[in-house]
Amino acid sequence: MDRLQGRRAIITGGGSGMGRASALRFAAEGAKVVVAGRTEATLRETVVQVQAAGGVADLFVADATVESDVAALVAFCLTRFGGLEVFFANAGNTDSVVPFFDQTPDTWERMYRDNVISAFLACKHAGKHMAAQGRGSIILNSSTGSLRANGGTQAYGAAKAAVNHLAMTAANALAGTGVRVNAILPGLTETGLTQGMFDWARSKGIEGKLGALTPMQRSGTVQDMAGVTAFLASDDSAYVDGQLIAVDGGISSTHPAGRFKL
Ligand SMILES: NC(=O)c1ccc[n+]([C@@H]2O[C@H](COP(=O)([O-])OP(=O)(O)OC[C@H]3O[C@@H](n4cnc5c(N)ncnc54)[C@H](O)[C@@H]3O)[C@@H](O)[C@H]2O)c1
Repeated sequence: MDRLQGRRAIITGGGSGMGRASALRFAAEGAKVVVAGRTEATLRETVVQVQAAGGVADLFVADATVESDVAALVAFCLTRFGGLEVFFANAGNTDSVVPFFDQTPDTWERMYRDNVISAFLACKHAGKHMAAQGRGSIILNSSTGSLRANGGTQAYGAAKAAVNHLAMTAANALAGTGVRVNAILPGLTETGLTQGMFDWARSKGIEGKLGALTPMQRSGTVQDMAGVTAFLASDDSAYVDGQLIAVDGGISSTHPAGRFKL
């Protein structure tokens, strides 16, 4: 498929997990990709993998929560590849599980900064350029933890709920400009963020229980996410705007009451 031929894309948090998988997928569909993040070595590995698969990519070291870094990242992509049509604001973090009464404002502020401010800066700086050129697609990475309790910690869930609202409000702020803003809401997926959980489940021999409550009866893969981000990056989603798209095997459609067998 060459749905992204001629497109230039930025992916934050592109040195691992869903960001790397989307970089590989975007490049495979024809986009030139800038992967951004705080650690050059992991970004370099993504670039090497994209190039090994015949794609085009470069890297830019940036903290997605620092405004001057995000502005410089957008400027880098414009100079390096001559344009910017897609921005996947994927960078995000979760916190470790801390009992509710032991949590501090610091935890909550950190979750807000890492997940919401990073998404806002992407909308602001990519949106400004894209609005001027009259087209573009911005994709935010939220979580099914934003919809229901227990898909992450309280601070993480609340922050991702703010990301959902940003997807809707930014889409409306950019109304009439040709720029679309949507969010994907991944379900549990094995990445660096969740590695501890998967390792623990494997050590107990209960790996199969992870994702078992989803109608698909499995956890997600980074390729599951990349399929949807590539769709949102492409014109196949030309009439999709301001949407929250759960990519979660159906878990957000269910009620935790068990399952009636056919
Ligand atoms: N893995 C899951 O089950 C899951 C579920 C729902 C949502 N998500 C979301 O998916 C996104 C990607 O996470 P992942 O699961 O691929 O894990 P990951 O840890 O592999 O990827 C997150 C990436 O973001 C980078 N990052 C974090 N803060 C950054 C910052 N301030 N500036 C630049 N880079 C930064 C990290 O270095 C890392 O490369 C996150 O936003 C996460 O909240 C993950």
